[in-house]
Amino acid sequence: MTFLVIEFNSRLIGMSRQESLEELHQEIRHCENCHLYKTRTHTVVGEGPVDARLMFVGEAPGREEDKTGRPFVGRSGELLIDLLNKIGLSRESVFITSVLKCRPPGNRTPRKEEIETCLPYLHRQIEIVRPDIIVLLGGVATSSLIGPWKLSDAHGRFYEANGDAYFITYHPAAALRFPKMKSRIEKDFEILEGELK
Ligand code: URA
Repeated sequence: MTFLVIEFNSRLIGMSRQESLEELHQEIRHCENCHLYKTRTHTVVGEGPVDARLMFVGEAPGREEDKTGRPFVGRSGELLIDLLNKIGLSRESVFITSVLKCRPPGNRTPRKEEIETCLPYLHRQIEIVRPDIIVLLGGVATSSLIGPWKLSDAHGRFYEANGDAYFITYHPAAALRFPKMKSRIEKDFEILEGELK
C-alpha cells in the first residue's frame, strides 16, 4: 500500500515537471531575444526524458537540426548516438540539448552576446531535469557552464560547481574534423560509463 502511494506521488511530481519543461520549451520556440530568430527555420530546444540522469550539452544547432527542429540529427549526432550506444545508453534515455537553441548562420561559432542571451534557457532546463551528470560537449558548452577550461587538460574529468556535477569531453564534431580525436572521446565515454555503474 505504501508503495502504491509513493508510486502515485512520484507520477504526479513527474507530470508537473513534464509540464514545466513543455511550457519552457514553448517559450523557447517563440523566442526573439536575439537576432538569430530571423535566420532560423526551427528552434531546437532539445529532447529527452524529464527525469534523465544524463544531460548532454552541445554548442548550437547545425543545418540538419535547424531543418528538423531536433538536436544532434546530423553527422555529429550520428557519432554522438554511436558513442552512447557503445556505453550501453540509448538516445531516448538521455536529455540532449545545446547552449544555443537557434542555428548561427553558416554554423559559425556562437557569439558572446548570443550565449549570454540564450544561457538562461539551458539553466532552466537543468533546474527542471536535475540530471545527475551534465556532459559538456566541447569548448562552448564548457566555457558557458563552468568557465574557460583548456579541453586538452580537462577532457575526461568530472567537475562540481553550484551543486551540479559536470563531465567534460570534446564535441563529436571534433572527431569528424580530426579523426584521431575519436579514440580520445571514446575513452572519455568509457570513463563516464564507469561512473554510471
Ligand atoms: N551540434 C550541436 O552542438 N548541437 C546540435 O544540436 C547539433 C550539432
